[in-house]
Amino acid sequence: MTKGTQLYEGKAKKVYATEDPEVCIVSYKDDATAFNGLKKGTIHGKGAINNKLTNYLMKRLEAEAGIPTHYINELSETDTEVKKVKIIPLEVIVRNVIAGSLSKRLGAPEGTALKCPVLEFCYKNDELGDPMVNDYHILAMGWATAEELETVKDYALRINSYLLKFFKGIGIDLIDFKLEFGKTSDGTMVLADEISPDTCRFWDSETHEKLDKDRFRRDLGDVEGAYKEMLKRVFGEGR
Ligand code: TMP
Repeated sequence: MTKGTQLYEGKAKKVYATEDPEVCIVSYKDDATAFNGLKKGTIHGKGAINNKLTNYLMKRLEAEAGIPTHYINELSETDTEVKKVKIIPLEVIVRNVIAGSLSKRLGAPEGTALKCPVLEFCYKNDELGDPMVNDYHILAMGWATAEELETVKDYALRINSYLLKFFKGIGIDLIDFKLEFGKTSDGTMVLADEISPDTCRFWDSETHEKLDKDRFRRDLGDVEGAYKEMLKRVFGEGR
């Protein structure tokens, strides 16, 4: 499979057509943004790390949690073949511990455990700042049907259960994360986008050190080190 026309350039990835209309190639970039693109930078080696981590986690979610994903085949350090999907225009956020925007919204300190996972939906629209929406908005705007929304919720919570245990096993607390889903041409709902330090909050279970993009968002330093540490935890010698 070879890269054809560029279909789309996002903040962290490019998407190309291929000779197969059902297949795209995603190419991960080292570019980093925060605050809906207002803050820009480069995280050296990020594209390769996020590609590798995402593909590994998607393969495990398919095999061990029965979650359909867009993943087909890793082509290179930064490029992967994926199923062509129509993205549901929602950021699906799952939270286990209060952090980030939830901490601000509720005036509750970061690090407070939630009694059960919290699911949130945001409408994917940078110009509007990805506003939070609920089930009624989603159905009324026709972004998903009731059945599709139930599938998305079920998958998101199952992904959370699987990933919580997986990361706990390598000494990482999964604080929260963002997922995106899409539909293939036959209407199957699949997990798309990425699962990486760009889209998850990972805290070391013992030291509570942040090992994710918050190091870039908040200017905490050693951003590259955090991404490398996550790669090492997942693939490396362990701790
Ligand atoms: P938040 O606390 O800023 O709402 O972020 C919740 C989670 O979603 C966090 O793990 C980071 C991730 N996220 C993205 O992947 N993309 C985004 O644009 C935002 C705002 C958050």
